[in-house]
Amino acid sequence: MTIRPLSSEETLPYDLLLLADPSVKMVGKYIFASSVYVAVFAEQIVGILVLFPIDKNLIEIKNIAVLETHQGKGIGKKLLAFAFSEAKEKGFQDIQIGTANSSIGQLALYQKMGFEMDSILKSFFIYNYPEPMYENEILVRDMVVLKKALGLR
Ligand code: ACO
Repeated sequence: MTIRPLSSEETLPYDLLLLADPSVKMVGKYIFASSVYVAVFAEQIVGILVLFPIDKNLIEIKNIAVLETHQGKGIGKKLLAFAFSEAKEKGFQDIQIGTANSSIGQLALYQKMGFEMDSILKSFFIYNYPEPMYENEILVRDMVVLKKALGLR
């Protein structure tokens, strides 16, 4: 498995992007101002990572997804580790990621990878998505923002 930037000639893999963020409109708000990377296995794009700079010190993982057939095999952890080294290399001090109150597995994964809960955007998903969504039988309501310090270079 390799991780590389998506070239400007390649089509954006919306199948993957929409796994993490089910709104084309919301993806459109950040994708063209972001750096996009893909995980490639056996010549197939199996994962995506989207990094969006918030300011000179802070970068956000706006989208991370792995094809369902390839989940649970460590690719997500590798994409996160790649994001940390790429962000550090670019001189950012902190990295953040937002996920839903209902995303139990993602909240576990991000904390295993060193993120700490930082803030909650109350009712973010109610205001920004047209239909109510449920995950793990929980209403997708609030955005939990987690942060990780990247350490000195
Ligand atoms: N409790 C505890 N640990 C859990 C749970 C849980 N309920 N669910 C998952 N995990 C852990 C696994 O045990 C594993 O850790 P381990 O290796 O220590 O056992 C880890 O989470 C998963 O690791 P990977 O196999 O590396 O992850 P994967 O390749 O499946 O990628 C991802 C994770 C990207 C979240 C993938 O499942 C996915 O694409 N999901 C759908 C899209 C999505 O939700 N994306 C994130 C949205 S938020 C955002 O994009 C900013």
